[in-house]
Amino acid sequence: MTTGIDLGRPESGDVLDLITDDHRRFEHLLSQLRLGTADRDAVRRAFADVLIAHGEAEEELVYPVLRKKAEDIGEHEVEHGEEEHAEGNEALLKVLELKGTDTQAFTDAVEELSNLIAHHIAEEELTIIRPAREQVSGKVRLELGAKWAARRNELIDQGCGSEDNVRRIVAQAEREGLLDDD
Ligand SMILES: [Fe+2]
Ligand SMILES: [Fe+2]
Repeated sequence: MTTGIDLGRPESGDVLDLITDDHRRFEHLLSQLRLGTADRDAVRRAFADVLIAHGEAEEELVYPVLRKKAEDIGEHEVEHGEEEHAEGNEALLKVLELKGTDTQAFTDAVEELSNLIAHHIAEEELTIIRPAREQVSGKVRLELGAKWAARRNELIDQGCGSEDNVRRIVAQAEREGLLDDD
């Protein structure tokens, strides 16, 4: 990360708490983008790093385990989550690609990104985090917390939110059919 904006650096804890802490962080950064209360270019780059790291680490390490351990989390919930990550990443790419940050195009792109992320956070907390809290043991959640946090931090250190890397991730999602319209 090169923006100097604090993205947190969790190392341990219940994975469900760590994930929801990041969701609150997303909301805060998106609100800064909407209100223009901070350097918008720095905020969009910081947001990109944490959003990509968070979602990639969820898909790699968390979704597969929760799906196995929680009876109310199945293929449908996981696939839907991955589709929403892809849509959010596509909207993020639009925000990153715009040259200026004080244009109508930027406002429109931030509005779309905000709406998609708010929707995904709500759905993930309702259909994945809440059942996982009831159906997955504390031991598994702690183990996952350490693994997820390490992967998230590693991806941030690699600059995973760069425009080129987000473009690569969106292209990959497109090839996998995650961006097909319903
Ligand atoms: Fe999440
Ligand atoms: Fe997610």
